[in-house]
Amino acid sequence: AALRRTTTEPSRLMSRSCYSSGSHPERKVVILGAAGGIGQPLSLLMKLNPLVSSLSLYDIANTPGVAADVSHINSRAQVAGYAGDEQLGQALEGSDIVIIPAGVPRKPGMTRDDLFNINAGIVKSLCIAIAKYCPNALVNMISNPVNSTVPIAAEVFKKAGTYDEKKLFGVTTLDVVRAKTFYAGKAKVPVAEVNVPVVGGHAGVTILPLFSQATPKSNSLGDEDIKALTKRTQDGGTEVVEAKAGKGSATLSMAYAGAVFADACLKGLNGVPDIVECSYVQSTITELPFFASKVRLGKNGVEEVLGLGPLSDYEKEGLESLKPELKSSIEKGVKFANQS
Ligand code: NAD
Ligand code: LMR
Repeated sequence: AALRRTTTEPSRLMSRSCYSSGSHPERKVVILGAAGGIGQPLSLLMKLNPLVSSLSLYDIANTPGVAADVSHINSRAQVAGYAGDEQLGQALEGSDIVIIPAGVPRKPGMTRDDLFNINAGIVKSLCIAIAKYCPNALVNMISNPVNSTVPIAAEVFKKAGTYDEKKLFGVTTLDVVRAKTFYAGKAKVPVAEVNVPVVGGHAGVTILPLFSQATPKSNSLGDEDIKALTKRTQDGGTEVVEAKAGKGSATLSMAYAGAVFADACLKGLNGVPDIVECSYVQSTITELPFFASKVRLGKNGVEEVLGLGPLSDYEKEGLESLKPELKSSIEKGVKFANQS
């Protein structure tokens, strides 16, 4: 009994099936930027996911150490670390999902768009490699500014002739995670039961939580509470950037959110029905070519981009006022990707 307790103890972090491959198919997940603030805890969480059979950790440096460390965890995934440009192809080959948290984070006083000049180039070069080595993989884009890096990825894939709009995702799960947490706190409902869609994009006012659709319903929240919850969700990233005071932005909550989203993608690929998450994807539900909304995930990635549902007047206003900023961030990404 003592032995049994020892072997199952860490599985409290995940489900019991953590220690058996069961009947899950082989799935390779690669993390680009795996040695970074998000990359390391995300590597840990993906190592704990029983749906992953192969975990490939890539960064420009320091991945051998991260990979050796994580590889000692007694869970299913086989771990390999790759460092430097010359190993990128090997890291990517055969991947089912590529998660990209590579790039610089914000410091206090910066907007996400201030990261564009550095991160756009990083994302572009990584996407060129993805198109070459694993053109069929689902791409989970975390690098900021997501509103622009996703359009950059789309343009790179179009140029390479590999673009499939069903397979490109901007990860906005952290906005949903925050909206759920803040709503549960204010509405005094059990956080584990809360659902709140968050639509639009992933920067400031482009983040539009739809608290009118939040469940469980709360009668105790007035208009001012909803405004405050909306603002806190929109400024959630800045709240962390300021608290870290120059040492970066959200890493742990982002790793959690990234792991939740990748898990949903894996379940979709494996044919689990009714997997729905919010994500920033190619979209026709507004006039903007990319938009975050609820998305049903399936064996080929996006199965269906779901509509916005009924909006309150406050949310309708928020939707109209986010469009100019989101549109210009998309255009900036497209323009950058098509330069030279
Ligand atoms: P970090 O600086 O701690 O880590 C970034 C890592 O990327 C580093 O290890 C670095 O070596 C690596 N990297 C740089 N260039 C690379 C390249 N060409 N190939 C592979 N790896 C490369 O930063 P972080 O805190 O992990 O944040 C990473 C990014 O994620 C930032 O752009 C940040 O703004 C973004 N972010 C997004 C969300 C979201 O909700 N989508 C949330 C938090 C952070
Ligand atoms: C976040 O929402 O935490 C990230 O986009 C990082 C940031 O710069 O705020």
